[in-house]
Amino acid sequence: MNGRHHVDMERRRQSRLDDEQLAGVLSSLHARAEANDEDVIPRVLTLAVERGARTDEDMSDLLAEAFIPINPVVGRLLHVLALTRPPGRVVEFGTSHGLSTIYLAAAMAPDDPAVVTTEAEMSKVAAAKTNFMAAGVVDQIDLRAGDAFQTLADFDEPISLLFLDGWKGLYLPLLRQLEDRLVNGAIVVADDTTLLPELCADYLAYVRGNPHLYVSCALPIDDGLEVSVVVR
Ligand SMILES: C[S@@+](CC[C@H](N)C(=O)[O-])C[C@H]1O[C@@H](n2cnc3c(N)ncnc32)[C@H](O)[C@@H]1O
Repeated sequence: MNGRHHVDMERRRQSRLDDEQLAGVLSSLHARAEANDEDVIPRVLTLAVERGARTDEDMSDLLAEAFIPINPVVGRLLHVLALTRPPGRVVEFGTSHGLSTIYLAAAMAPDDPAVVTTEAEMSKVAAAKTNFMAAGVVDQIDLRAGDAFQTLADFDEPISLLFLDGWKGLYLPLLRQLEDRLVNGAIVVADDTTLLPELCADYLAYVRGNPHLYVSCALPIDDGLEVSVVVR
């Protein structure tokens, strides 16, 4: 067989999204998140105006009580992308209570490496751990507590799916930090691109303006996603 055209049929693909326990945990987490954020976000926005905060990062202490998760459609898309990705690690920036992480981890077969996710807010790290145990995916997740630039500083494994969902001004510097690790065909998903377009502007200009490295597509669902594939 011509090596150049070899097709890797080996990797197992397995979805646990319909697992009763996991689906039940996700649906109750979405309901809790919605009720919580309906109460918390208006208060955060009022305090943010009083403080003169201009970015999500300026409000990080105020947002400690918020879930601010992806919605179920985006969760399912992340799950599908995790199933279709080339071989390599899944890395997530911004765990919060772990809703998106559970969708990603539910795509990990036992022979797949764990999803690496990182969260700076310690109360959220604890909540995420509890949720991962309840959903039965704790063994599929490597949860790193602390600032992503530190927790991923020495990350030297190939990455095939990167989900950016922390503070928006950090998307571009974190992408640049991890860029060498992205395999050919890796998928990079950035959230909140239509909700917070100014804060995502430098990131979007970069992935849209480097066609030798990224082919990028704006997906206007939920708070807006930018899905970029690495072409090398
Ligand atoms: C929008 S929430 C993530 C929601 C989560 N992906 C979900 O869908 O359930 C953003 C999270 O990123 C975290 N974060 C922001 N900057 C960070 C940093 N530099 N390092 C680690 N976590 C960070 C925040 O504390 C916050 O919990």
